[in-house]
Amino acid sequence: MSKDIILTGLRANGTFHLGNYLGAILPMVELQKRYAGEYQINMFVPDLHSFTTPINHEDLFRNTIDNLKLYAAAGLDIHNQQTYIYRQSYIPAHSELTWILDCFAYFGEMSRMTQFKEKSEGQANVSVGLFNYPVLMAADILLYGAKWVPVGEDQKQHLEIARDIGQRLNNKFEQELFVLPEPWQKQMAFAARDNGVRIRSLSNPDKKMSKSISDPKGTILLTDSPDEAAKKIMSATTDSFGKIAFDMAERPGISNLLQMLALLTSRPQTEVNAEWEGQTQYGNLKKAVAEAVHAFLTDLQARLAAVDEVDLMGKLEQSEEQMREATQPVLYRVQQAVGLRPQE
Ligand code: ADP
Ligand code: TRP
Repeated sequence: MSKDIILTGLRANGTFHLGNYLGAILPMVELQKRYAGEYQINMFVPDLHSFTTPINHEDLFRNTIDNLKLYAAAGLDIHNQQTYIYRQSYIPAHSELTWILDCFAYFGEMSRMTQFKEKSEGQANVSVGLFNYPVLMAADILLYGAKWVPVGEDQKQHLEIARDIGQRLNNKFEQELFVLPEPWQKQMAFAARDNGVRIRSLSNPDKKMSKSISDPKGTILLTDSPDEAAKKIMSATTDSFGKIAFDMAERPGISNLLQMLALLTSRPQTEVNAEWEGQTQYGNLKKAVAEAVHAFLTDLQARLAAVDEVDLMGKLEQSEEQMREATQPVLYRVQQAVGLRPQE
């Protein structure tokens, strides 16, 4: 296990939408395709992160498995020997390291986290887990010495705090306890596309497609029937310029459609734009996108139904066993450094 590691987690908190798929799942699948063999890939479900804000706990276990099935349906090769898929809560070292890191993370820096501020604002009872979220995420990364952590812009601060905390312990204990993830700029260069994809709501294209906001007409869920999804595309909000052009800032509605079309058909954005720009019939573009979405969902849902769950569980349990072992020496070195275990 001496290869550099690409590591990412996707929270299991309900149904995914097309934005999650194109912005987070597909890039990871593509990274695996591009780098299989060169890097080790850790793709995990941060199930302990799933209830930092209230959820329906009856659904959590099932959601976790469903998310993993979705990765497989999206084309992640689960049999790749260099790819590990696991659930965070099945590797106790994540929680154990979190507690230790907690004692070196500062109340001030944690209070400045945008996600914490946003999600706690106006809430009567804010959980300590929500406050602590970034430290658990730091443990997720530092335990494996992952260099590459492809995440969206919203996770930038969390990546940086993982670097800060790791560096702080390395300095304090004067040894390389942790290999640090690369800084944000380098992460962006590595996974260029990840950062650029921001699928907009179909009904309100100034906003991103999101499951946190109730916007059924603007959001295509991966569980939507293909017909229903196609209808949502046909009624997407565009503009009244009368001519198709790609300009995300000024014309987010039409550009969103062009972007979806390029991603869904695996074609370069410039090529798709060149094909459509200047045309006046928005309806034709909508039809093309609706067809692409229809075909995509039909295919994905069929692949999802065909995922062999027994096979998946086998891989999961094998990876979890391997990761429990792989994380032990890292945790042990930290325990030694802080004085919980004897020095050699
Ligand atoms: P949501 O906003 O729908 O609750 P999450 O915050 O759980 O989504 O994000 C899960 C992953 O999906 C993250 O990596 C995030 O960057 C990505 N993602 C979420 N919404 C979009 C979108 N509209 N376009 C592209 N990527 C997205
Ligand atoms: N916080 C990430 C998100 O909401 C999920 C996550 C948890 C993660 N731990 C991680 C991502 C470690 C990358 C690395 O999208």
